[in-house]
Amino acid sequence: MQPADSLQDRQEKLATTILNSGLGGFILNPGPSLHYLTGLHFHLSERPVVVFFIPGKPVRIVLPELETAKVQNLPYPARVYPYNEDPDTWVDAFRQAGRQSNIENPKIGVEPRGLRFLELQLLQEANPDLDFVPAESVTAALRMVKDAPEIASMQQAARIAEQALTAILPQIKIGMSEAEVAAALSMQLLNKGSNPQLPFFPIVSSGANSANPHAVPSDRLLASGDLLVIDYGANVDGYFSDITRTFAIGEVDPEYHKIARIVLAANKAGCEAVKPGVTAGSVDHAARSVIEKAGYGEFFIHRTGHGLGLEGHEEPYIRGGSDLILEVGMTFTIEPGIYLPGRNGVRIEDDVLVTSQGVRSLTSLQRELVTLPIIQ
Ligand code: CO
Ligand code: CO
Repeated sequence: MQPADSLQDRQEKLATTILNSGLGGFILNPGPSLHYLTGLHFHLSERPVVVFFIPGKPVRIVLPELETAKVQNLPYPARVYPYNEDPDTWVDAFRQAGRQSNIENPKIGVEPRGLRFLELQLLQEANPDLDFVPAESVTAALRMVKDAPEIASMQQAARIAEQALTAILPQIKIGMSEAEVAAALSMQLLNKGSNPQLPFFPIVSSGANSANPHAVPSDRLLASGDLLVIDYGANVDGYFSDITRTFAIGEVDPEYHKIARIVLAANKAGCEAVKPGVTAGSVDHAARSVIEKAGYGEFFIHRTGHGLGLEGHEEPYIRGGSDLILEVGMTFTIEPGIYLPGRNGVRIEDDVLVTSQGVRSLTSLQRELVTLPIIQ
């Protein structure tokens, strides 16, 4: 569990954000935001767990009886509403939690991508006077700005990921499949100390598959002349890294060296554009215009980056036109790419932190196109 003072601090900030958003409260079910605010880990299961956050009141936790050991001696004021194994009784626990909260403003925020129909139905049935509204920006606003322990975890997740890739590079051979490379990399991530819940199974794509940004590792065998894109990450204390590097296998088409240099320049321009006070859109523009000016704009087919933390994709999204203002403590990826359909693709992805000076990259592995020697 996080230090008690940081949890209390987060709950106080949540209360302020709830009030500033014109809401009377916020309700969460298990997931990254609940973990962030309460230090509690529950699996999403058929037995619903919800926590009421009402400003100025203790948190109210509805959960199955068998989970009550987890919520004893919490380092913040809390009331617990356990229910038994008979689903017909669950709504009573939800009703008690709602009534005892004495909610003045009936508009209650929820995360539309987190709360399920199961919880929503019980909440509505138990509390017909409450009005549940989507308000994902409330929790996103808090989680977007990382504190020092969160940044330390992310830095460690980046370090582990870089050590893991460095360890497998000498093993990569012609005739190995993408899936074999991905499996070897996953194993090394665990060996180097990643939490086993990786942010996602590594993307290892070669040849024409590398022209698909979200390729799934296949049984395609690595061959001379391929580009090899490896996109993966580690997990430390629930915080993720997300890195991409591209390699050449033996001698490749000179155009691939050219697009690799352009993507590297775009990555650099994107990173250098990051500082407090600028918009996410301006960072996207900085990276994208390098690729556009080089004549490959139509082949950069996704946004420049996404926020990173307890989730692999979270706010702030670094996309064209976004007027979100970057602040000290935000963490996100810069990952421009050029994908030549039916041929090969290049992506270079780094994880960056907004600092008072501008930017610090959490990732540092060599970004230039490295040619792997041809080993049969
Ligand atoms: Co990635
Ligand atoms: Co990414």
